[in-house]
Amino acid sequence: MKKLKLTLLILPFSIVLINCNSTKKGAQYTSVEKNLSYNKDIKPIIENSCTPCHIPPQGKKEPLENYTHVKENIASIIERVKLPQEDRKFMPPKNKKPALNDSLVAVLVKWQQQDMPE
Ligand code: HEC
Repeated sequence: MKKLKLTLLILPFSIVLINCNSTKKGAQYTSVEKNLSYNKDIKPIIENSCTPCHIPPQGKKEPLENYTHVKENIASIIERVKLPQEDRKFMPPKNKKPALNDSLVAVLVKWQQQDMPE
């Protein structure tokens, strides 16, 4: 019985602790809140993960080699990189290049929300 009382006493404190932790996690993503630009933030992601397939002349797929093309295709780019990796439409194709991690996907989404500055 004493133990139960003790647990009940500790419970509210642990909830407070857990909440503090989750606000800290949220703070890690503030790096994505800054002003993004195609040249500074987006181009390096595409160059890393979408070459050579999407860069002409070798790349025969939807060209993503410049600002205009990436801007025009941003909706399908985000759609593709957010798919489950086993989906055959997932980009970059499985076994060809490593998938974008969550924070890189977040950069793409944020750039779209910021009206895609060059
Ligand atoms: C190994 C080669 C390869 C890489 C790397 C690659 N893709 Fe693709 N991509 C393809 C092929 C092949 C297709 C066409 C087949 C399909 O639609 O799934 C395609 C299709 C697409 C399409 C659809 C185009 C359309 O006309 O509808 C988008 C958008 C796309 N890729 C985005 C990306 C993005 C963004 C990356 C990098 C994160 C990437 N791809 C990396 C080979 C690649």
